[in-house]
Amino acid sequence: MRKMYDQIVIGGGVIGCSIAYQLAKRGYQVLVLEKDSVASGASSAAAGMLGAQVEFTQDGPLFQFARESRQLYPQIEKELFEYSGIDIQLIQKGMYKMALTEEQLNHLQQLAAFQKQFGEEAYVLTPDDMMAREQKVSNQIKGALHIPGDGQVSAIHVTKAFAKAAESFGAEVKENTSVEELLIENEKVSGVVTKSETFYAEKVVLASGVWTKDFQRYFTKDTEMYPVKGECISVRPDQPLVEATIFSEGCYIVPKKDGHMIIGATSLPYQMDKKVSAGGIHSLLDKAMYLIPEIKDAEIEKVWTGFRPQTKDELPYLDKVDEVEGLFIAAGHYRNGILLAPITGLFMADLIEGKAISSVYQEAFSIKRKQNTYV
Ligand code: FAD
Ligand code: GLY
Repeated sequence: MRKMYDQIVIGGGVIGCSIAYQLAKRGYQVLVLEKDSVASGASSAAAGMLGAQVEFTQDGPLFQFARESRQLYPQIEKELFEYSGIDIQLIQKGMYKMALTEEQLNHLQQLAAFQKQFGEEAYVLTPDDMMAREQKVSNQIKGALHIPGDGQVSAIHVTKAFAKAAESFGAEVKENTSVEELLIENEKVSGVVTKSETFYAEKVVLASGVWTKDFQRYFTKDTEMYPVKGECISVRPDQPLVEATIFSEGCYIVPKKDGHMIIGATSLPYQMDKKVSAGGIHSLLDKAMYLIPEIKDAEIEKVWTGFRPQTKDELPYLDKVDEVEGLFIAAGHYRNGILLAPITGLFMADLIEGKAISSVYQEAFSIKRKQNTYV
């Protein structure tokens, strides 16, 4: 007898696993299909910043969505530990956004004013104030914005924790299982086909990151997904150099719980090769050593690339696909999928269950939206 699931989620990245967790917790029979292994895509490449303020420079639905998601993290950390036993390594020590020129300093002042309008904490610091807080930061900076509310997690741990917590509620996660086709009968989805098997469900969620473009043939609206390659470096200093994340134009340094630091990341649109280039690493190290000169003595542990899933208007698609009943999409989280995972899981689970969802978010993240005017 063929086994029926309530929902099949295609993609074991942070987005698919967060959705699977919320659905399984609500009592549904969920199957996650992952072509490689859980967290093998962008979700293992990420630095794990929860940059609801550091990454946003203007208001709009995504900024509000990001702030809500960041707020969910302390509760999600507890839940995931309870149901998966995995510590997602949440660190809430804030971030510093650096100004290296007078122009950048003016911009930080405007940013502080904008963020304060929404009740967020954001303080402009002089170079002396900054160095009193983080002694190893260069005295060449022109100032910094202190953002106490932005934190960080370990991206790979969060993704695996969502998957394992979903399993604790009965979800099945099958790795090394690539979905080749959707089963569609009378404009209704009924399952998915892999190389060797067919799995059945009346609801299917495309959460395949940048690879969601491979399913474009099932939509009439062009979902315009493209990769933005990012190269990163992990270094290990002999002793901790900074407490909080240091962020500047084209470079960030994220100090992790076990003492290593992630230096990221290049940003190369439409590139989807795994190569880590000498030029990319050189430019990141150059910027990182300008910000924290003692990084020059740190040991290089590894380098890697990942592919941010980007949409043409820089907003994710979180929607049901009108052309095919039962088909949903949750993709295009670009630079902030780790930050946005908790709220995306809740939003998609509500949408799939047919519950009321925010009309602002529904419209902003719809596949049928007009061009986003916020970017
Ligand atoms: P992915 O993690 O790519 O997952 C998609 C999964 O689908 C993959 O595992 C893939 O193998 C699977 N898949 C694809 N096709 C199929 C198929 N046909 N069948 C089965 N499985 C399939 N975000 C932050 O919030 N903070 C950060 O600090 C941050 N830093 C980043 C740094 C870098 C260098 C990069 C590249 C990204 C960063 N991001 C960050 C962004 C974040 O990583 C992404 O937005 C997020 O991981 C996207 O998650 P996803 O689940 O949509 O995609
Ligand atoms: N959010 C950091 C990055 O995408 O590089």
